[in-house]
Amino acid sequence: MLAPPPPYHLRPMTMADLTAVAAIDHLSFPTPARPGLYEHEIADNTLAYYQVLCHDNQVIGYAGYWLIGDEVHISTIASHPEWRGLGLGELLLLNLLVLAYTHPANIVTLEVRQSNYSAQQLYLKYQFEMVGRRRRYYRDTGEDALLMTAPPLDARYYQFLERQKEQLFRRLMGEE
Ligand SMILES: CC(C)(COP(=O)(O)OP(=O)(O)OC[C@H]1O[C@@H](n2cnc3c(N)ncnc32)[C@H](O)[C@@H]1OP(=O)(O)O)[C@@H](O)C(=O)NCCC(=O)NCCS
Repeated sequence: MLAPPPPYHLRPMTMADLTAVAAIDHLSFPTPARPGLYEHEIADNTLAYYQVLCHDNQVIGYAGYWLIGDEVHISTIASHPEWRGLGLGELLLLNLLVLAYTHPANIVTLEVRQSNYSAQQLYLKYQFEMVGRRRRYYRDTGEDALLMTAPPLDARYYQFLERQKEQLFRRLMGEE
């Protein structure tokens, strides 16, 4: 788990976080997670890893993935709308990629809505590539999902993550 500059703090999601997580979820996705989903993920799903990002003690973002063999599949990532544009979505993604590297996993995949430009830009910043399309994947809007993958989680990519981390932490400390 990354240790960002205080008062930011990353830690595993717990049951006590679920009200705050649900509030961010409702503000972030066209169709929020079904009731009980995160309870199940935390309590029952041994493949699931979820983290929250806090500012002091306030939960302002969360992210999660499933570890299946040597593949990490990002299931969700969101920052609170009032905290966007500050590098915090990036912090959540970077943390997740570092966790993936240390498992160790080799592959990172995710699906993103075709219309979700901001998220796609975030993934492109981390050198993800579009490798496929799932037609009409999202039942609420009938939208396609773009399937994206990170570069292989090797030493070269880890060095890139280290450089990104240094830059991001300087930004979070107000030095950039
Ligand atoms: C996607 C999301 C997590 C980004 O969070 P954020 O805290 O605003 O992102 P950051 O400030 O860390 O931005 C990191 C990078 O993302 C991209 N980005 C973020 N917002 C963007 C925007 N409005 N337009 C273009 N690119 C954007 C940029 O590449 C940015 O890097 P930069 O700061 O060097 O320009 C956030 O918009 C969100 O929670 N959206 C709703 C939930 C969602 O769609 N999740 C993704 C599901 S696949």
